[in-house]
Amino acid sequence: MNEVLNTLAAIQQLEGAKLRYALMDLAKEVPDAIALGRGDPDLDTPAFIVQAAREALTGPLPVAPVAGLPELREAVAANALRDHGLEQGSENALITTGGQEGLFLVMSTLLEPGDEILVPDPRYTSYDQAIQHTGATSVSVPTYAEDGFDLRPEEVEKRLTPNTKALLLVTPSNPTGGVITQATAERLAELASKHNFVIISDEIYGKFVWEPHTHVSVASLPGMRERTVTLSGFSKAYAMTGWRVGYILAPENAVRAMAAIKTHTTGPVATLSQRAALAAAHGDDACVREFRHIYAERRALVAQGLSHMGLGYSDPRGGFFFWADASSTGLRALELSYLLLKEARVLVFPGTAFGESWSDYLRITTLQPTEVLQEAVSRMTPVVERYAREAAARH
Ligand SMILES: Cc1ncc(COP(=O)(O)O)c(C=O)c1O
Repeated sequence: MNEVLNTLAAIQQLEGAKLRYALMDLAKEVPDAIALGRGDPDLDTPAFIVQAAREALTGPLPVAPVAGLPELREAVAANALRDHGLEQGSENALITTGGQEGLFLVMSTLLEPGDEILVPDPRYTSYDQAIQHTGATSVSVPTYAEDGFDLRPEEVEKRLTPNTKALLLVTPSNPTGGVITQATAERLAELASKHNFVIISDEIYGKFVWEPHTHVSVASLPGMRERTVTLSGFSKAYAMTGWRVGYILAPENAVRAMAAIKTHTTGPVATLSQRAALAAAHGDDACVREFRHIYAERRALVAQGLSHMGLGYSDPRGGFFFWADASSTGLRALELSYLLLKEARVLVFPGTAFGESWSDYLRITTLQPTEVLQEAVSRMTPVVERYAREAAARH
């Protein structure tokens, strides 16, 4: 398999998640490669959460109800109110196997063949599979660097049809780091009410919004509770990707419909993981504040590195990514990613893994310790500069 993929020609055929996985496979063959590809926190799960799991192991671990441990459902609903003003009860919460299962369950429950769902471009392409599976059609809504990748309500409005069932929001966005502003959220909420569509709000990076920006949960706006499905989880917030605990907050009938699918597919999330997540949810989020400091330092380092190598970017307003404009190198993003892997031994993802038209962009994560990020920047700089010089000489 790796041999087949070991040429640019072969990986060029791939797109979305397949392309990302092919590049990760290639990186395994590069000794000492630095991975700035995947979006999973590299930090350790906080010790008090691991300790809660240890303690849980000393007693019985009966299987949980399919919608999740009642106390965890209650805790995520209470935190949504505490953190984002979202009025939900435990009956509105469904505990899922990571955010990933959540998005599959939401799409499966909501969408039918013939429906249309509006999806910002660029996007986390796992949505594609979840949407395709339902037979619904995904309609791209462009986002722009000059807006910091906020969504333009007029671009949404233009694409509404009688078949529009839902709008997907991702705030902060993977891959752009864009964050929906209060004004945008309010305008989108008006459109949703007027045109009767649902908003699916993926807020999995919601604890990491960088000042002066703030996180807005669209479900907290007047009248939106009944027409919003909020998706989140513990993977990013508490560095718990491997524990596989996500959650959905939605109207109770939607929760029941999703739980019915879950009963016959994955069943309840492992009780041990739920007990660990419960400790996280009952905590005071001091660990999250510490994570924010760490990510802020890393962000500053990468920002400086990108500026130094002449790559453009709009300051990420949230999340773990830089969405960098690499057009100065004169190379298409996939080719540049490939060359950076081969020549700088750094894995970054091409923009085309997140949307067909983003061939000038790279997605670069900040999910490595600062000294590793420093090393990645030092390795990338001469390579990027050389290609930029060659491109300039051609013009
Ligand atoms: C935007 C977005 N939503 C959902 C997920 C799923 O997260 P997980 O299944 O790790 O909880 C991810 C993972 O990278 C993501 O980037």
